[in-house]
Amino acid sequence: MSREQVGDLAELPIALRPDAPGLFLALAPMDGVTDGSYREVLTAMFGGRSGISVCVSEFVRVLRQPVTEAVFLRHCPELARGGSTRAGVPVFVQLLGSDPKWMAEAGARAAALGAPGVDLNFGCPAKTVNNSDGGATLLKQPCRVEQVTRAVRAAVPASVPVTVKVRVGWDDAAPMVDIAMAAEQGGATWLTIHGRTRTQLYKPPVDWKAIGRAREAVSMPVVANGDLFSLDALRECGQVSGCSAFMIGRGAMGRPELFVQARGCFERASLSRADMQQLLLRYVAQLLADGAGAHATLGRLKQWLRMGGLLRADMAQWFDAIKRLQTLAEAKATLLASQ
Ligand SMILES: Cc1cc2nc3c(=O)[nH]c(=O)nc-3n(C[C@H](O)[C@H](O)[C@H](O)COP(=O)(O)O)c2cc1C
Repeated sequence: MSREQVGDLAELPIALRPDAPGLFLALAPMDGVTDGSYREVLTAMFGGRSGISVCVSEFVRVLRQPVTEAVFLRHCPELARGGSTRAGVPVFVQLLGSDPKWMAEAGARAAALGAPGVDLNFGCPAKTVNNSDGGATLLKQPCRVEQVTRAVRAAVPASVPVTVKVRVGWDDAAPMVDIAMAAEQGGATWLTIHGRTRTQLYKPPVDWKAIGRAREAVSMPVVANGDLFSLDALRECGQVSGCSAFMIGRGAMGRPELFVQARGCFERASLSRADMQQLLLRYVAQLLADGAGAHATLGRLKQWLRMGGLLRADMAQWFDAIKRLQTLAEAKATLLASQ
């Protein structure tokens, strides 16, 4: 994956904000998946011209106490290097909580540590999180989305974006417009919408139309998210929602070339088997270099292969071949042996 294989990124330049000229493509936060090591290898692809505009960290849970610097650095090691990956892609710190005071305190702290943006998670569907009044629970009362957003916005310097990430509603998409307006009233810089309800979890269908209704109701930029697994999906989502800025999560695991492809800078249909293999081995090396143990690294590798396998047959085969292996050494050998 050399720089030359990508061609000229000038065709659809990288927008650092969804309302800037060019194409905005964010890498979605995925708890347990998109750690600092993953962000590092993904943004380093194609000679550091991965096509990714912005990454968002896995969520930092905010309860009724201050979040320590160590916790921020664990979730977002990029804070120790100015808030960007080594390839220079900014990493927003995502906060998950419901208490305006403590969320504001955490937002201010993240910004003081150098976060280039603070993202607020009002979409998490996990039962444990929802039962302790976090994530998508707040979608039931849009005024609470507004309160938390307003408190964080007031605590974070104006130069640092405060962004909001939601689903279309709790059990139906009827409150979508109210939720979007609440985020805007609270002062969100932009809004990312995963086109599913909380009760849907990750089941189909994704509702890009509801994202479009929200986009029409607000004047801040709206970033569309959900099932963007291919160029066709990006095009269709753009048409249905009217959005021209997107966030890609699971698609990046099987189609990490999607970001450059969407910019018109990748001629082939997909990464070759050898390129994918190299990328996975680089991820393993990065995890170990970042201090992950061999067992944890094996778990992360299996996770990437399992998710990527939904989009690529070779990854599904690799997953089958390593899923029962107990050691990282065996898994690496299996991956290397399969040319
Ligand atoms: C394993 C997993 C973990 C996730 N963790 C987070 C998270 O920490 N914060 C968040 O806002 N969304 C999280 N999400 C949701 C994704 O950011 C995204 O909204 C969702 O996967 C839909 O986009 P996609 O179809 O491109 O994957 C997670 C999704 C998955 C599958």
